[in-house]
Amino acid sequence: MTKYIVRGGQPLFGEVHISGAKNAAVAIIPAALLVDGVCRIENIPQISDVTALLKILEQLGASVRFLNRTDVEIDCRHIRTTQVSQELAHRIRASYYLIGALLGRFGAAEVSMPGGCNFGGVRPIDQHVKGFAAMGAEVREGDFICARAANGRMKGANVYLDVVSVGATMNIMMAAALAEGTTTIENAAKEPHIVDLANFLNSMGADIKGAGTDTIRVFGVDRLHGGTYAIIPDQIEAGTYMAAVAATGGQVLVRGIIPKHMDCITAKLQEMGVEVEEQDDTLLVRRAGKLMRTNVKTLPYPGFPTDMQPQITTVLSLAEGTSIVTEGVWDNRYRYVGELTRMGAQIRVDGRTAVVEGVKTLHGAAVQAYDLRAGAAMLIAALAADGVSEISNVQYIERGYEDIIAKLRGIGAAIECVSCDDSIPVKQIG
Ligand code: EPU
Repeated sequence: MTKYIVRGGQPLFGEVHISGAKNAAVAIIPAALLVDGVCRIENIPQISDVTALLKILEQLGASVRFLNRTDVEIDCRHIRTTQVSQELAHRIRASYYLIGALLGRFGAAEVSMPGGCNFGGVRPIDQHVKGFAAMGAEVREGDFICARAANGRMKGANVYLDVVSVGATMNIMMAAALAEGTTTIENAAKEPHIVDLANFLNSMGADIKGAGTDTIRVFGVDRLHGGTYAIIPDQIEAGTYMAAVAATGGQVLVRGIIPKHMDCITAKLQEMGVEVEEQDDTLLVRRAGKLMRTNVKTLPYPGFPTDMQPQITTVLSLAEGTSIVTEGVWDNRYRYVGELTRMGAQIRVDGRTAVVEGVKTLHGAAVQAYDLRAGAAMLIAALAADGVSEISNVQYIERGYEDIIAKLRGIGAAIECVSCDDSIPVKQIG
């Protein structure tokens, strides 16, 4: 077990390169199961969720070969089983995509209930199941989800999602890609990773139209062939570095992004007095003056992303005045607030609303990452705080941020990863 030691209170300067999008990669890797050929997937982020998914594919019979650090070749021509071992699937939320992919290609799937980040509440998958059932699958839920398509092949259907769900939208797209007939998903999610999955599948021979709008049509085809595809850059990783600069001050060039995907985050930071200049695939983020208060409500894309809520709340805790944050996607995503208040933040949570009274400074403390984005919030707070902080449970952070220590050090952060048994090597930091 490791923890991060951060000496905060220094502005960040330099350049950071953004990796491939986690939430696209964790869908596209399972989607390779649909392909009767060799897929070359480029710009894969090196994060623990990706490692676990690739291992699961290998256990199912896929051959997986890294061509270099970011590009991988996956050959799913000789899959042996549709049963996914519990040990790995249980660790990651995205293992639910294995159900849609296996059902779509082989008409059967057995996958243990997904694990991953738990925000303290329930993370239902009823909309995924509703979609599979509408397409003719029998689905049994218990410790395992066992799904079987009538006559071994999914059938096109109309599915109206009761809630806008990223996971259900992508899972139904996968189950429908090789189905007999047309599937229409209404009230679909529109996140950039939805479009990325559709583009991946289409480049392998699928026929999916409307991804990025709230109605997606999947015209089932008989076979997907191999090909090459590059994953989009990670909107949330980029937003997290932007928030870090907002909190600490300084100037950082965020490279390798799609500026359009960043608009919802850029707009909020600008309201808070952060300067953001867009150029091609980079954003120059600068904060010299005071941070100003604002209100934030998280919503499905193109709204402000829930996966940036803990990070922006941390920045607002250092803004002048009172800000209101409303969580519009998850029931319970404020568990990290207790940790922030131990660093001096003044935040009151009432249901889905957090009232943030800005303070002048945060101070270093020993805190823990409750989940991936909560961990990112702790890092931002620690970078901005006076003194030394210790962040434990960092395995959550490493589920979704590639090379975070090296990237932060590259922009001047004093951060170190040490074994949990070690004492704080304060003098070595930097
Ligand atoms: N929901 C249902 N029933 C369902 C599915 C979802 O009621 O069958 C509800 C959820 O309880 C939630 C809302 O719908 O209130 C949205 O959930 P969604 O299905 O969109 O979430 P997800 O697909 O499980 C993905 C990301 C999350 C991100 C959400 C929302 C992955 C692996 N996870 O989760 O990312 O918060 O979309 O954008 O793609 C993260 O990266 O830190 C993370 C948690």
